[in-house]
Amino acid sequence: MPSLCPCPWQNTFPLVLSLCFFLHFCSMKVISVTDPTDKLVLQSFLESVTNPTKLSGWGNGDPCEGWENVICTGTGTRVTQLQLKGLGLEGRLPANFNQLSSLEQIALQGNFLSGPLPSFSGLSMLTTAYLGSQNFNSIPSDFFKGLKSLQILTLEHNPINSSEGWSIPADITEASGLTTLVLSNTSLSGPIPEFFGSFTNLNELRISYNRFVGGIPSSFRNLSQLSIFKLNNNAASLSGPIDVVVSMASLKVLWLHVNQFSGPIPSGVGSLLSLEDCRLNDNQLVGIVPATFSTSESLKTLYLQGNQLLGPIPKLSIGNDNFTYDGNKFCQSEVGVACTPEVSSIISFLGDLNYPSSLVTSWDGQTLCGSTRQALRGVTCDANGMVISINLANNQLSGLISPALANLSSLTALILNDNNLTGTIPESLTTLKFLRKIDVRNNNLYGPVPSFGTQVLVNISGNPNIGETAPDPSPSQENSPNSSNDQTRNIVPSSNSSSGSSPSDTPASKNSSSPLAAIVSAVIAVLVVAVIAIAFVFYKRRKRKFFRVQSPNTALLRAPGSGDEGDIVKVTVNKIDPSIENGIHHTCNGAQNMQLFEAGNLLISIQLLRSVTNDFSQENVLGEGGFGVVYKGELEDGTVIAVKRMLSSMVSGKGLQEFQSEIAVLTKLRHRHLVALLGYCMEGNERLLVYEYMPLGTLSQHLFDWRKLELSPLSWERRLSIALDVARGVEYLHGLAHESFIHRDLKPSNILLGDGFRAKVSDFGLVKHAPKGDKHSVETRLAGTFGYLAPEYAVTGRVTTKSDVFSFGVILMELLTGRKALDESQPEESMHLVTWFRRRLGNEGTLFESIDSAIAVNDGTSQSILVVAELAGHCTVREAYNRPDMGHVVNVLAGLVEQWKPSDVAEEEEGIDMHMTLPQVLKKWQISEGLSMSSDLMSAGTSVTSVSSLPSRPSGLAQTFTSMDGR
Ligand SMILES: *[C@@H]1O[C@H](CO)[C@@H](O)[C@H](O)[C@H]1NC(C)=O
Ligand SMILES: *[C@@H]1O[C@H](CO)[C@@H](O)[C@H](O)[C@H]1NC(C)=O
Ligand SMILES: *[C@@H]1O[C@H](CO)[C@@H](O)[C@H](O)[C@H]1NC(C)=O
Ligand SMILES: *[C@@H]1O[C@H](CO)[C@@H](O)[C@H](O)[C@H]1NC(C)=O
Repeated sequence: MPSLCPCPWQNTFPLVLSLCFFLHFCSMKVISVTDPTDKLVLQSFLESVTNPTKLSGWGNGDPCEGWENVICTGTGTRVTQLQLKGLGLEGRLPANFNQLSSLEQIALQGNFLSGPLPSFSGLSMLTTAYLGSQNFNSIPSDFFKGLKSLQILTLEHNPINSSEGWSIPADITEASGLTTLVLSNTSLSGPIPEFFGSFTNLNELRISYNRFVGGIPSSFRNLSQLSIFKLNNNAASLSGPIDVVVSMASLKVLWLHVNQFSGPIPSGVGSLLSLEDCRLNDNQLVGIVPATFSTSESLKTLYLQGNQLLGPIPKLSIGNDNFTYDGNKFCQSEVGVACTPEVSSIISFLGDLNYPSSLVTSWDGQTLCGSTRQALRGVTCDANGMVISINLANNQLSGLISPALANLSSLTALILNDNNLTGTIPESLTTLKFLRKIDVRNNNLYGPVPSFGTQVLVNISGNPNIGETAPDPSPSQENSPNSSNDQTRNIVPSSNSSSGSSPSDTPASKNSSSPLAAIVSAVIAVLVVAVIAIAFVFYKRRKRKFFRVQSPNTALLRAPGSGDEGDIVKVTVNKIDPSIENGIHHTCNGAQNMQLFEAGNLLISIQLLRSVTNDFSQENVLGEGGFGVVYKGELEDGTVIAVKRMLSSMVSGKGLQEFQSEIAVLTKLRHRHLVALLGYCMEGNERLLVYEYMPLGTLSQHLFDWRKLELSPLSWERRLSIALDVARGVEYLHGLAHESFIHRDLKPSNILLGDGFRAKVSDFGLVKHAPKGDKHSVETRLAGTFGYLAPEYAVTGRVTTKSDVFSFGVILMELLTGRKALDESQPEESMHLVTWFRRRLGNEGTLFESIDSAIAVNDGTSQSILVVAELAGHCTVREAYNRPDMGHVVNVLAGLVEQWKPSDVAEEEEGIDMHMTLPQVLKKWQISEGLSMSSDLMSAGTSVTSVSSLPSRPSGLAQTFTSMDGR
């Protein structure tokens, strides 16, 4: 060392050492000096307190030295904490308080300070402020400015600006990391601020006992971390539906009581996995109590009294004291007893009319007939108590005519004229044997009139869209007198209507006269919607088959060429409890069957998964991976699923991490070319993931094992289209609007094929969330598969999206050559595909020799083979920054596929915005049917990232549109 470092101070080392000692000595000796400004503020504080003797040590010497409850930085010059809890201080906070510019924490619990709160503006280090239960009577409007670090703020029980009320200034949004916000009983007024929805880390929000008006802002759906949410007793004036709370997947405590909330209780509330304490009492809630409360495993308290709830009282597994339900309109007085079939049907009927308060308010929920005041208005019965007529003409009803009316087996007359009913006349009504009269004049019904027998007098006049025509959702359509077009759209199924406007929660003992139906109605209702979705998709498909010549819009809405069931299931999936990421384990024991919850959560019980996979039998095995075995299963409705069951040895550490990561990633990502997660199950040591089933297996089977499996080899066209599908999936992963994901394990065995060989990327266990842009790399534990790893990743452990591009290049080479990335049966020099193939790139002759012999190399294919080979080379160059991005790859491949199959490009099709609820998706489809071409393109562009980011695509679409139109 000395020879390398001729440092001049080498010889003076002892001197430096002693200097150090000296300084150290000095620093110990010197009394620290509090920053003069901080000292000034504390002195003002001391003066503004009326019982200063409680502040022991204050006033003498230096604050950082001897004043109790004052905590300073290590070096002792800046005040960082005022821990004043429980001192019983009276008086005020000083006006210059915000000059304590290094303050991080202030705790005032157990004091009695009063007067105006000083501004806290600019306290950018402040993380924690406990200011509750004082007597502060005003707050300056700049109080929240610049509180960038704030995480916990409590202000409850202060009469702040109590006479005029106040609203939280939007400055508070600067505290973007806020986790706890307690503002109960602080005289807040006006609407609840929409911007509270931006506090995505919020864990606790308490704003009870204020004077808020209006509803729960829709932005609150973003509060997925929220565990405690209390806004009870807001001067009994908060109103509107409570649906948004089902998106708060972490909710444990939900207090909404003593307000004016209305509408049904969404079934998703009962299925919130952590919900323990749910108080909805004393509102205007209507409809049936969702059955999901009965199966909840977490629920300990449910207060429902003082609403207008209908149907049976659910049977819960919680103690009597903790379940209150008096003062509703339940059909039976005993817990768990179903309504009579007639009452169930009537409740469904009312549900489809959105529970009109003009009818529900006066009804007692059980008396159908008779002249008593609590009987349901407009209903008459025969001597046996069977409903024989419903007459609700001119009652300002809106909503749909319920198919459940078909269960009122004695019904003779249905009089609903002069209302504002939409939807269709349910086909089911034709089964009513005694029906003689239907009067639906002057409503807004559409669709075909079911064929009632001649004995039924049907009056449908004054419904502009009734008959053979569906309504025109867009005005632009009105000037296209295209009857053949209408013809194709007229078969709007009744499903159409039930999904159209009713919340997914309509009580539905539809089509069932069983009393049990009412008990499980909420769950059924949601399932009904799902079934409808399937029916609708089938309907669309069938229609496609039979009505080839039709509006170009419909053509653009084609599902992918294949009829893969993925479409259906995909839209039913939505969001899965993000708390799973935090390792909170929920069991799915209680779920008796598949439950499609309103929030879209699909919890699947272990029992069901056992039964559909034949108790995980060997015959059902689809494949095996590092972390588990994948089984095939078939649900009762015929849906085939793939169930990945983790090996029990993996249910910890790395395996568990991947399980959680996969759920976390797949709930964020939805794309036609990414395999959809349908649900999951965590129970005991079992960890299972349920995916859409991909009937044709993995790409690697078709590429490498086709002989053994007796498959036919993939043609070049197929390989191209698979490559394009995969590229699109990966492009989407990389290029999500706000975030970017790196797959890290792209390889043929993770590429699954559905009908028509449409490919989807799977296995997201290693996916890494990356900062946007290629410049950023993420350092990770090395994972992935040898042969596919980009060199920089293998060497440094740093991944970028370009590492995926490398792996994709390897896959292209495999598609070209039919050889595996790492083929140990080959001699040393050709074992590693990338090295071997890149050597052959320069020379067309040797290149064509390396092409898979199963590919027909001819005039038609050779050109695109060359292009793909070049692309593969480009993707696998050593320097990551020289590799193309997936957008470029998609462009190149799309160009080639287009040459082959011009009509295939239309498959860019309907973008399904996965943030939409199922009914919304359905609605969008319906609406799209009537929309103009350009707006279709726009909507596809906004929901499928890849479309909007690619300039070449719209022209491709337009071209296709022309060709489809001409057919
Ligand atoms: C509270 O009242 C004071 C005095 O009336 C006023 O200056 C201040 O802006 C009010 N604060 C808020 C946040 O409205
Ligand atoms: C609201 O705060 C005041 C003090 O400002 C207190 O007297 C009152 O009891 C509190 N109300 C509730 C419901 O806690
Ligand atoms: C009743 O509810 C409280 C509060 O949620 C809970 O602590 C308690 O365990 C519940 N009791 C029963 C019997 O479920
Ligand atoms: C009828 O319903 C439609 C939507 O369903 C609504 O826009 C319209 O205002 C309603 N008309 C009346 C008179 O209530």
